[in-house]
Amino acid sequence: MSGNPFYVTTPIYYVNAEPHLGTAYTTIAADALARYRRMTGHDVIFLTGLDEHGQKVAQAAEEHGTSPQEWVDAIAPKFIDAWEMLDISNDDFIRTTEERHKRGVQAFWTKLHDDGWLYKGSYEGWYCVPDETYWAEDQLLEGKCPQCGRDVEFLREENWFFKLSEFAGRLLAFYEEHTGFVQPETRRNEVVSFVQGGLKDLSISRTNFTWGVPLPFDEGHVTYVWIDALLNYITALGYGGDDASRFERFWPADYHFVGKDIIRFHCVIWPAMLMAAGIEPPTSVFAHGFLLTKGEKMSKSKGNVITPASLVERFGVDAYRYYFLRDVAFGQDGSISMEAMVQRYNGDLANDWGNLCSRLFNMTEKYLGGVTPSAPAQDADADETLQALAGFLPEKYEAAMARLDYAGALEAVWDLIKGANRYIEEQAPWNLAKEGDDARLAAVLYTALEAVRIAALFTAPVMPATSAEVWRRIGLGDIAAVTDIAAEAAWGGLPAGSAVTKGDPLYPRIYEDE
Ligand code: MSP
Repeated sequence: MSGNPFYVTTPIYYVNAEPHLGTAYTTIAADALARYRRMTGHDVIFLTGLDEHGQKVAQAAEEHGTSPQEWVDAIAPKFIDAWEMLDISNDDFIRTTEERHKRGVQAFWTKLHDDGWLYKGSYEGWYCVPDETYWAEDQLLEGKCPQCGRDVEFLREENWFFKLSEFAGRLLAFYEEHTGFVQPETRRNEVVSFVQGGLKDLSISRTNFTWGVPLPFDEGHVTYVWIDALLNYITALGYGGDDASRFERFWPADYHFVGKDIIRFHCVIWPAMLMAAGIEPPTSVFAHGFLLTKGEKMSKSKGNVITPASLVERFGVDAYRYYFLRDVAFGQDGSISMEAMVQRYNGDLANDWGNLCSRLFNMTEKYLGGVTPSAPAQDADADETLQALAGFLPEKYEAAMARLDYAGALEAVWDLIKGANRYIEEQAPWNLAKEGDDARLAAVLYTALEAVRIAALFTAPVMPATSAEVWRRIGLGDIAAVTDIAAEAAWGGLPAGSAVTKGDPLYPRIYEDE
């Protein structure tokens, strides 16, 4: 183990639906951060997984005539395969039906029960099964779920309650002291005013079905699925198990990535539960917006779902990852469209980045026999301008990534890529070749190749496969092994004498009528 620990998570996804653009979006964003932090020398755990309990899953299984366990076992591989297709580099994958999770959940309840944070009471209210959320009568909108507009069912049962109401003051003090806990700022205000409105105790168990983790002190009750799910973030690290060393090293999490629809669970209930157990809350919960197609949230019930697989087939995995992180401001809702994706692809990837690489590798082959030249003894002004662009990049990129501003980080890389294209246009190596100015020709190609080497480093978190390919084509080692990106990006790292191969276009142009 080396480096600072860094722990980043996605929500664990419901297994009632297959992976879609929305869940892929959260996962890709978390993946890009995890990859970048590995490149800044952190010891990273990137966790994703599945939320397999609850009434919704039990119902889906029943509708399909299978047991809940058979049902979740059949769906789980679809997520595992989808994340593999999208080049997701998760270090662990938790399923809430795993033994390690159940043990941790039960250990947690035992602790809260022993410490007097739970009591038995009767619950009366409305339950939305698709959202697995409780609502009070006065929260309903025309008798329907205020969140998704679907039917709710009336529940009256004996439940265990968590004394959430006692945590309002501590939570408000915590938000005040940890200003980065809820991000972005708009979400923070929303959470603060919600808690200022006062909190009710939370029903944490159910008795009307059995598909969940039984409460250790009252086995007729299973854990409310949301509470069960939140605990994955610590059970995956070994909380409540025999070996808690990962928990001790990696908790509190640096980032929980969530969609804006689930911040109350993550920013109110979750830190209160942890406080009750004497565990530190996570450092940050970052809520991203929704992907909208023609202004609507994409969802199965609306029938406007495009699958990740169909886009990967058309654009390739790296272009897929690039588009969503570049075109949608992370933290805000963003409209996505095929037209915009084609435009980004052709403009940024095929023209700017792909073309830069092909032209340069071609010229290196044609003029220098496919071998990298040595660094020029003296730089011209234009060389220095390009070097300066590369020099600013590590800091600009880090600042953007520290805010999870993926679009800003990528824009900073594109400053260098566009600068390198301009440089080639202006220096016109083809003329230098014609004139027989070999020294300047070698200097220009070296300078541009060096810019490409550095740009590939910073595109790697978002576009790992093409970055690795670019490095291979300029004869460099495994880009995924880089653990000090800033040092690696120092000007002059390109060795002389390494073999450059031309290869196929990285991003072949897409024609709109295809
Ligand atoms: N199982 C819970 C999470 C428990 S975490 C302790 C859950 N699962 S989910 O599968 O319904 O959704 C997971 C994530 O996908 C949420 O963060 C949600 O915001 C996100 N998205 C679902 N549709 C989306 C879009 N159309 N756009 C962007 N993200 C959206 O909630």
